[in-house]
Amino acid sequence: MVESVEKKWWKESVEKKWWKESVVYQIYPRSFKDSNGDGIGDLNGITEKLDYLKELGVDVIWLSPVYQSPGDDNGYDISDYRAILEEFGTMEEFDRMLQAAHERGIRLVMDLVVNHTSDEHPWFVESRKSKDNPYRNYYIWRPAKEGKEPNNWGSCFSGSAWEYDDTTDMYYLHLFSKKQPDLNWDNPRVRDEVYDMMNWWLDKGVDGFRMDVISLISKKPELPDGKPGINGYASFNEPANGPHVHEYLQEMRRRVLEGRDTITVGECSGVTLEEAKKYARSDEKELNMVFQFEHMDVDADGTNKWSDKKMDLRDLKHIMTKWQKGLEGIAWNSLFWENHDQPRSVSRFGNDAEYWEESAKMLATCLHMMQGTPYIYQGEELGMTNVPFGDISDFRDLDSINAYRELTGQGVFTPEEMLRYLRYKSRDNARTPFQWSDEKYAGFSSGEPWIMVNPNYKKINAREQMMREDSIFCYYQKLIRIRKQYDIVVYGTYDLLLPEDPELYAYTRTLGEEQLLIVCNFYGNTRMFTLPDNWELGKTELMIGNYKDFKPEKELVLRPYEAVVLRKNGGK
Ligand code: NOJ
Repeated sequence: MVESVEKKWWKESVEKKWWKESVVYQIYPRSFKDSNGDGIGDLNGITEKLDYLKELGVDVIWLSPVYQSPGDDNGYDISDYRAILEEFGTMEEFDRMLQAAHERGIRLVMDLVVNHTSDEHPWFVESRKSKDNPYRNYYIWRPAKEGKEPNNWGSCFSGSAWEYDDTTDMYYLHLFSKKQPDLNWDNPRVRDEVYDMMNWWLDKGVDGFRMDVISLISKKPELPDGKPGINGYASFNEPANGPHVHEYLQEMRRRVLEGRDTITVGECSGVTLEEAKKYARSDEKELNMVFQFEHMDVDADGTNKWSDKKMDLRDLKHIMTKWQKGLEGIAWNSLFWENHDQPRSVSRFGNDAEYWEESAKMLATCLHMMQGTPYIYQGEELGMTNVPFGDISDFRDLDSINAYRELTGQGVFTPEEMLRYLRYKSRDNARTPFQWSDEKYAGFSSGEPWIMVNPNYKKINAREQMMREDSIFCYYQKLIRIRKQYDIVVYGTYDLLLPEDPELYAYTRTLGEEQLLIVCNFYGNTRMFTLPDNWELGKTELMIGNYKDFKPEKELVLRPYEAVVLRKNGGK
């Protein structure tokens, strides 16, 4: 039999891999499940809930940092890479959790935060002591320039990216908080330390890494100024995709990952399509995939994230399609609407009021049917929403608190405006306790949680949804099952339909003779959609949809936030 061109292309260019077929679930340990009543989630809490994840059907857990840390940025400021934060538990409890996950066939991925350490890490404690300290060159130190900071780079969390240290009368670089000094990756000893530590965790049995802001590790030696943003500083992303980043990641591949069966995903802020092709090339010289953030800026106001502007769906389609088509056959996409740095997607891109359930399922459909590895952020599978925070004292995130102070202080926004933007965009929206049940504190803890519980937990919680067949949770289960059942969901090529339609997101997936049609209504209007010419009604079946009584017609009627996945039955 002569193979079709598509099939041949697919065979040659898209190699089958377990990490392409997997669904990853992100746990933010502080807010997942507290087992000891101190109001802070912990490792035993996670172990307790592994059966929940098994039931959902995910294959891999990505664990946000659990290492020892003073907690300036909730664990993304690490003071010991080989120790567990006391609030979260012990190394024995970690080992038990890892084993319990493996027993259930679930892999575990660690968060690797090595663009920076905590300022309380022993390396930095040494480094700041004197200019000739053996650890001095582990970090990036510069003298003042004309009596001021060495350049105009801003920290991601407001203000300058430079902190003056009077011990040696020099500045150190921190692209994040001043308690997160940037490591100097040009120093081979730093790289040795990082690789040793990674090998140590892999030898322990973990299955891979999500690499925090890995696109920022290589800085241009001349540290050039960048274009200033609304607060007067250049973006923290200025050093993205620096001169040696690919060389270092290839070295990491050789010295750590080669010969091991791991999954790696690089958080690549500031990544372009061309760069992503290098980071995540399918010959696996660097990483398996990257997180790109272009679609997370779709509702930014220019380069400023602090706004409550709603996205234009055409922009979202354009961005997603650019990445779907751009990496096709060359590199692999990771798919996400949410993580611990983003607000809740149902509040942002859906409708968390009248069409809460429909829109949460619609968003899930739209994302999980694309090509790439889907990531579910804890609570997304329940349609957890943004949080009605009161005043600034309700927020815990340093990014939100610093931005509030800086931008209201500079008079860029009034306090009321800034609170409105925070309620819409703050990272804390994703960090309130997981809503397990309608019990006190949403069943997250027996003690008062470290951050407020979303008051809607009586309506939105796991216990209720696990018992109800048409819940968002059960819909996610079904999407995951479909992915396991049909190769086309993983490997099919993506093509956008109706690029200029402002309300419908429609696309096809094609694999050899097979084809899927995905149509998602992103708004509250009822819309018509005509089946493409090469689709015959008699040979069209519904794979999944978010309304009960959908029937395929030549002229499809899509109700508010309706999503359908149709399968061509019997070839093209
Ligand atoms: C990206 C992480 O996702 C975020 O939570 C953190 O604040 C910064 N990197 C700094 O590590």
